[in-house]
Amino acid sequence: MKIASPPSASFCPARLDLLQSASGLVLALFMWLHMVFVSSILLGKDVFWTVARFFEGYFLFGRGFPILVTLFATAILALFVLHAVLALRKFPADWRQYRTFWHHAGRFPHGDTRLWLVQVLTGFALFFLAPVHLYQMMAHPDLIGPFASADRVWSGRFWPLYLLLLFAVEVHGGVGLYRLALKWGWFEGKDPALTRQRLRRAKWALTTFLISLGLLSLAAYMVIGMDHAPHAGERYTPIWAETGR
Ligand code: HEM
Repeated sequence: MKIASPPSASFCPARLDLLQSASGLVLALFMWLHMVFVSSILLGKDVFWTVARFFEGYFLFGRGFPILVTLFATAILALFVLHAVLALRKFPADWRQYRTFWHHAGRFPHGDTRLWLVQVLTGFALFFLAPVHLYQMMAHPDLIGPFASADRVWSGRFWPLYLLLLFAVEVHGGVGLYRLALKWGWFEGKDPALTRQRLRRAKWALTTFLISLGLLSLAAYMVIGMDHAPHAGERYTPIWAETGR
């Protein structure tokens, strides 16, 4: 009689999980840096102009190469797609799986179970919102600057998209980092309940800070864009860059 051999263990799901965590971590770190660069508008038009030209290699090559921004945005889009495809495996696939989730959430009314649903919903919103912005950055990398960005936000009516995107990405990123820290045991102390409580506080503090900074920056782009609306399309160049002094 032939005895069936036991199913062999596969490392594939674990590897995919690791890849999902790593891609999420890189994206979350990128979003922190992105917030620093975008919010530089709060320090003045000249500062944001300098940041935008820096990424085009202006200070290295003596002139800007916007293609560098296109290449970078393409790499971010590829990472975003990889992360989304890996995350799709975990989405409930049909109403039966949703019913099971609700049943489970009802039996274990724990905040972290609800956070998983928040993660799914904000991730779903990002599928639709993020590619619009990324495509814009890839197709028009030369249109980044104090007036060009503000014109896009106000006259180009991008502000509603940015408002939704800001909340979706910061909540998604905050919950994602919190879940990563719990899953991989980062910052683990002697008392797991205390660690969880501290992580949860840190998560809310970080998300609140990033959303507030994002709202302030968005307001700055909107105000500049409103002022500049009659001249929309005209570019900003600092006097010192024009005169070379
Ligand atoms: C390399 C890729 C990216 C570049 C070059 C880039 C660049 C910019 C720039 C220049 C702005 C200022 C407004 C404008 O010019 O239209 C902006 C705003 C914004 N970006 Fe990005 N971005 C990138 C990726 C992302 C990603 C992946 C997300 C989220 C999934 C994102 C979310 C946002 C949000 C929410 C705002 C509004 C900022 C605010 O509320 O202050 N960006 N981005």
